[in-house]
Amino acid sequence: MTTDIRPATLASTADARTTLISALNWRYAAKRMNHRQVADDVIDTIVDAAHLAPSSFGLQPYSVLVVSDPELRSQLHQQAIPQPQVTEGSHLLVFAIWDQVGDRQVDELIQLTADTRQIPVSDLDDYSQMIKDTVNGFDNDQARHQWAARQAYLGLGLALTAAAMARVDATPMEGFDPAALDQALGLSGRGLRSVVVMTVGYRDPEADYLAGQAKVRWPQERFRIDLDDRLSV
Ligand SMILES: Cc1cc2nc3c(=O)[nH]c(=O)nc-3n(C[C@H](O)[C@H](O)[C@H](O)COP(=O)(O)O)c2cc1C
Repeated sequence: MTTDIRPATLASTADARTTLISALNWRYAAKRMNHRQVADDVIDTIVDAAHLAPSSFGLQPYSVLVVSDPELRSQLHQQAIPQPQVTEGSHLLVFAIWDQVGDRQVDELIQLTADTRQIPVSDLDDYSQMIKDTVNGFDNDQARHQWAARQAYLGLGLALTAAAMARVDATPMEGFDPAALDQALGLSGRGLRSVVVMTVGYRDPEADYLAGQAKVRWPQERFRIDLDDRLSV
């Protein structure tokens, strides 16, 4: 339920800083992992976080495939993702967008919304038309796929955050051959195409030259622009 509208208290703001920000400082994109198995409930939490990500109109035009089988990961490593984390990690998550996003998918979402909220489908007619106008209004399939991919990356962000909170390593990866990965996993048969993957596992500090290195981010003054301050200058 989303009925809790209490303002954050000072204590919870401080808690957020210690729990969330320290988790995000702890995490890094591990290049090498140590083959240790990640517990199923941690994987469930990571996938749940992605599942709860916001998306445009709530359409969630993507799926997350969870690959745990070591043999399949080894095959994917050889055929599509030549990075060691794929086999040294415990699980591989593949974020794959829907190939088709059109009237049928919008009708399904509207039906789901009506069922979940126990309201008549007809109450959502205007909303349905607005979504259809958007998804049918892209110039071409590529623009539609890029829009869908942007939603998938929000899921990726929350999955990375959930992994960090659980102190499990996770590496986002675009360094793979999407066509080869789609082929190896038979994604076109499911109406899906991969856009980004994430390995989940535990870092191997001895093998990983990046382990323990300081995090590199632009200074806050460059990243954060307080417009009120600038406008008053
Ligand atoms: C969309 C995306 C794609 C990435 N692709 C790869 C990749 O293919 N292989 C890899 O080792 N790291 C990859 N990274 C990790 C980045 O290099 C890393 O997040 C960045 O250097 C910041 O460092 P940090 O995440 O360790 O703090 C990717 C990150 C993102 C967000």
